[in-house]
Amino acid sequence: MSTVPHINAARGLALGEAPRGERKPRVVVTGGSGKLGRATISHLSSQGWEVINFDMRRPPTASEDGKSGLGGAYRLVEIDLSNMGSVLEALLEVDMAYKGIDAIVHLAAMPSPGQSSSSLQFNTNVSSTYNILEAARKLNITNLVLASSETLIGIPLNPTPPARLPITEESPRRPESAYSLSKLVGEVLADEYARWQPDAKLISLRFSNVMLESEYAGFEEWQDDPMKRFWNCWGYIDARDGAQAIELALQSKKTGHHAYLVANNNTCMRKSSAELAKAVFPNVPLDPLPSANATLLDNSKAKRELGFEPKHDWS
Ligand SMILES: NC(=O)c1ccc[n+]([C@@H]2O[C@H](COP(=O)([O-])OP(=O)(O)OC[C@H]3O[C@@H](n4cnc5c(N)ncnc54)[C@H](O)[C@@H]3O)[C@@H](O)[C@H]2O)c1
Repeated sequence: MSTVPHINAARGLALGEAPRGERKPRVVVTGGSGKLGRATISHLSSQGWEVINFDMRRPPTASEDGKSGLGGAYRLVEIDLSNMGSVLEALLEVDMAYKGIDAIVHLAAMPSPGQSSSSLQFNTNVSSTYNILEAARKLNITNLVLASSETLIGIPLNPTPPARLPITEESPRRPESAYSLSKLVGEVLADEYARWQPDAKLISLRFSNVMLESEYAGFEEWQDDPMKRFWNCWGYIDARDGAQAIELALQSKKTGHHAYLVANNNTCMRKSSAELAKAVFPNVPLDPLPSANATLLDNSKAKRELGFEPKHDWS
């Protein structure tokens, strides 16, 4: 694997721990027990990272005693990220396990508008993101990747349609739920933390709807009606490609805060993207597309600047 940027200065060693130069680069993945988190841990482990999962729950595959089924190559630290003391302590060290973290991928959140109370989603997501950013600043951890969301495009795009298609990172950010508002606040916090720490890199990945391979059979049910999936412009991203984007963001040598849409190259539909757009958004200007089923969530900035290339496609 290529050189990992933004490694911290050496601290002490935990029991049995190799000196920093002799061990793998160490990344914390928050929310590593979740859908995207599990794919991320698996991918980063395979790419030579030592991964530690900060989550308030075990992944569904973990054994009762937590000694197996954690994906093999990583530890689980059970933690509530809305508690700043716990976040600071766990990033600094966990007794006898490790001292010092090189990078953070912050995925933990209460996702999906409508599945828990709005205030719980907003408060949990904002406090967790603040705690991660502030603790990272205090500990001089300068390589950060944050899960933002496609919802910033204005999901559910009804009654207000997009101003123009495809949607890009320059399209207006228009949160329509407490969940989406929490993601916007996360990006605003990242802007300011980047300003406070000119050497730091903060990358916000605006993931489209994350899908597992096992969910692709269900896409058939959407094919007869463009209205079933118009709410996010028919976008999706395979969890494995989401993990790829995360690794590329970790490797990026940029500084400052940068946001990227992370969507697959195609939509979740067989009908062409131009037909879908005409059927649901007849008055919205549509720019030329690179292919008939091309995504309407433009992923070209992530391709250009991070080297992202989705590999897993439903069709
Ligand atoms: N799934 C999607 O379609 C999608 C789309 C866009 C963005 N995202 C974002 O990507 C990230 C990962 O999404 P996912 O689908 O894997 O979600 P998920 O619900 O499967 O996983 C989220 C994980 O975060 C953990 N968590 C929540 N609050 C916590 C807290 N206070 N302390 C510690 N752990 C906590 C949960 O236990 C869970 O394991 C989230 O930030 C989400 O908002 C997801």
